Amino acid sequence: MDPVGEVSSGAKASHKLAATAGAKAPPCILVIFGAHGDLTKRLLTPALYNLFGAGLLDDSFKVIGVDRVDGSDDSWRAELGQTMQEFTKDPDAEFYTPQINAEWWGGLSGRMSYYKADFTDIAQLEGLKGHLSGNVVFYCAVAARFFAPVVENLGKAGLTQEAENAYRRVVVEKPFGSDLASARELNARLLKVLDESQIYRIDHFLGKETVQNILAMRFGNGVFEPLWRREFVDHVQITAAETVGVEGRGAFYEPTGALRDMIPNHLFQLLGMVAMEPPNSFSAETVRNAKEALFEAIRSVEPGNAIRGQYTAGKVQGRDVAAYRDSPGVAKDSVTETYVALKLEIDNWRWSGVPFYMRTGKSMTGRLTEVVVHFKQAPYAMFADTPVDKLSPNNLTLNIQPTQGVTLGISAKIPGPKMDLGGVEMKFRYEDAFNLTPNVGYETLLYDCFIGDATLFQRADNIEAAWRVVDPALKAWEADPSGPELYEAGTAGPKGAEDLLGRDGRAWMPLRQDGDES
Ligand code: BG6
Repeated sequence: MDPVGEVSSGAKASHKLAATAGAKAPPCILVIFGAHGDLTKRLLTPALYNLFGAGLLDDSFKVIGVDRVDGSDDSWRAELGQTMQEFTKDPDAEFYTPQINAEWWGGLSGRMSYYKADFTDIAQLEGLKGHLSGNVVFYCAVAARFFAPVVENLGKAGLTQEAENAYRRVVVEKPFGSDLASARELNARLLKVLDESQIYRIDHFLGKETVQNILAMRFGNGVFEPLWRREFVDHVQITAAETVGVEGRGAFYEPTGALRDMIPNHLFQLLGMVAMEPPNSFSAETVRNAKEALFEAIRSVEPGNAIRGQYTAGKVQGRDVAAYRDSPGVAKDSVTETYVALKLEIDNWRWSGVPFYMRTGKSMTGRLTEVVVHFKQAPYAMFADTPVDKLSPNNLTLNIQPTQGVTLGISAKIPGPKMDLGGVEMKFRYEDAFNLTPNVGYETLLYDCFIGDATLFQRADNIEAAWRVVDPALKAWEADPSGPELYEAGTAGPKGAEDLLGRDGRAWMPLRQDGDES
């Protein structure tokens, strides 16, 4: 991750700033296990295309796609090329561009080759050896149960051995374990074959510009950090609400659920960015040490502070949605949660007494990912003799998606003879200030892995600390057959989640976004 670069001199830039360019990554071969998988098509290929277009890949860069089914270089390139073309017809796709640049695609696809192999078979992996030299990144874009076997087989095939001038790195996707014990076991198995410095545990939230911007906001501005503590902050809300349901992912989602899918990974990364102590630098170990110190200070969640919900049939933004239990691959009596809300407490000097509330859910009323820092109320005294009987406390919203930016909620005088105050917003929007280029978020992460910057990747202890915090909720739910509280699709979630804040005299922010009326 690059340290904060050029910053606009005005709150509203008079001209849009272009993205900063980086240096080409060193020569490298990227081996993707799961060449035909969804991740490769939807995210890795567009990210590589963007990196190629930005001139960030070395002239000798190559991609080798590995999968079990028959195929050739040409058929794999054609398959990916077709998906790239489909993106141009779908403005809602994660990667949307009106047109694929033929030169970029030709340049990238010319470096792609296909290798048929069953990665659970060492003999077949050994055959890869002749295709590899110099720096190699192995990307496990496969189901989680294969992470350890793939790495163990790479080790046995002698492919993970680094030379003085050649690295061997492995990117591991999520979910990384399904509870504390399994995350520990997975770490132990990987660390038998690889050094920690060779492992890049990915969390795609850290590839989002707006998530990285949390650090820029906090540490690139003198104005926020002095207020970023228990003396001034009342509480923090972290939301990742989705309008999509489980769609065709029932088989994955049934044993997973909202907590495992989103909390110890994505939402904890947001929490880390917002709440960690200022690191002395942006070096990987310094940042990950700061996160670790924070995660260790979070109390393991009390089951009573973990609310789970599951959606029933309803309407999401005008579209009929079937109940989760009626989705393909889902049991009719499923107790898997599609919504979770947590209250977390942090035992350190900065945050003691400041609750952090988190929620995430599917089939909700709006799509919204944001962090809202709620500041304490200003004293009333000054307005005691005026008609102003209630001031709205300030809140700073870090808008992650779909709105990208930062919003500060302040009170201002409503024009007129009386001293009436109203809540208004100061806004920074990415699209107003910067020239944005299509980006799926994996560009930064892949590039960082190629150059050996692990700042935006999770270390073994970070992952285990997050699982330790949520483990009591998972255990309590397993032991409680009553299952999640039901909520109608297209709403803001179960009543229990409202009560979680209600009993502290607080309320969730509405699930609205720019342009919504409510
Ligand atoms: C994935 C989860 O990791 O993140 C999905 O498995 C979820 O269930 C997705 O929808 C959310 O990511 P994003 O980038 O769309 O907010």
